[in-house]
Amino acid sequence: MRVGVLTGGGDCPGLNAVIRAVVRKGVQRYHYDFTGFKDGWRGPLTGAVTRLDIPAVRGILPRGGTVLGSSRTNPLREPDGVRRIKENLAKHEVDALIVIGGEDTLGVARRLSEEHGIPCVGVPKTIDNDLSATDYTFGFDTAVNIATEAIDRLHTTAESHMRVLVVEVMGRHAGWIALHSGLAGGANVILVPEQRFDLDEVCEWVTSRFRSSYAPIVVVAEGAMPRDGDLVLKDAAAHDSFGHVRLSGVGEWLAKQIETRTGKEARTTVLGHVQRGGTPSAFDRWLATRFGLHAIDAVRDGAFGQMVALRGTDVVRVPLAEATAKLKTVPLAEYEEAKVFFG
Ligand code: F6P
Repeated sequence: MRVGVLTGGGDCPGLNAVIRAVVRKGVQRYHYDFTGFKDGWRGPLTGAVTRLDIPAVRGILPRGGTVLGSSRTNPLREPDGVRRIKENLAKHEVDALIVIGGEDTLGVARRLSEEHGIPCVGVPKTIDNDLSATDYTFGFDTAVNIATEAIDRLHTTAESHMRVLVVEVMGRHAGWIALHSGLAGGANVILVPEQRFDLDEVCEWVTSRFRSSYAPIVVVAEGAMPRDGDLVLKDAAAHDSFGHVRLSGVGEWLAKQIETRTGKEARTTVLGHVQRGGTPSAFDRWLATRFGLHAIDAVRDGAFGQMVALRGTDVVRVPLAEATAKLKTVPLAEYEEAKVFFG
């Protein structure tokens, strides 16, 4: 048996831990061979491969990024994409694919499994934690820790100058990073894509924070939008091959609005890709490793079209169709709960 492995979409801490676990168990327990496909779906599409064996995964557990490379290539949008993938799998004698990715990458795996008989097992990853059918994705915990540390640091500089500090975190469709880091870091306002915000209300929270002689920290997810009208985003024309618009600008826009409306000085920090880089947290290494161990078992069992998922503390299998049907967003009740700390 030869198993192909690829990592697709935005990278996140823990990808290497999955790859290592898959290869270690696959070689040691099942005597499988492996082929690494490079740069997400571009690898199977173009036949770009790399050696993947025990020496290749030595030392990669704590390393961020992915030794296989990643891309947002959508092979279903390429001419003859499916035929080219089938040819390259046959050429490299690959019998099954382990696909590590988020909603887009796994959506392709689902269609290739269901509609074209390509045997795929999915492993969920994303710092955004917005994949359905799993309680957590690895990468999220690391991103929340990075954002929380930034908020802790911003409190002291905000207090020293009695300024508003707006912190823009990732999360284009879901506010998980904003909510978790905002609560952990003691933010005074948290804005998420799930609920449009009212600028007057935000300014009221900011002003009331100053009234108690504290400087406010506003955490805003990059996908959050004001109630009145959509923001004109800097990169609105830049779509990736899955049709997503590149977001940028809500933090800067919000700081200017707050300054104008409250008369208080405001600054913005955009955390950006810092949240995706560097070494994974212990939790993410643990989760990624367990996902890898269970993914190779799924291949052994012929459980194709399935994804490994965390339910409570158990790793289970769920249909890829269930995982990619809709995004897992923050429940409004959970967001409302946090509002006791606003202002
Ligand atoms: O999906 C993960 C994510 O980090 C989002 O939070 C963010 O909007 C997007 O990727 C950024 O993508 P890119 O690295 O392609 O600019």
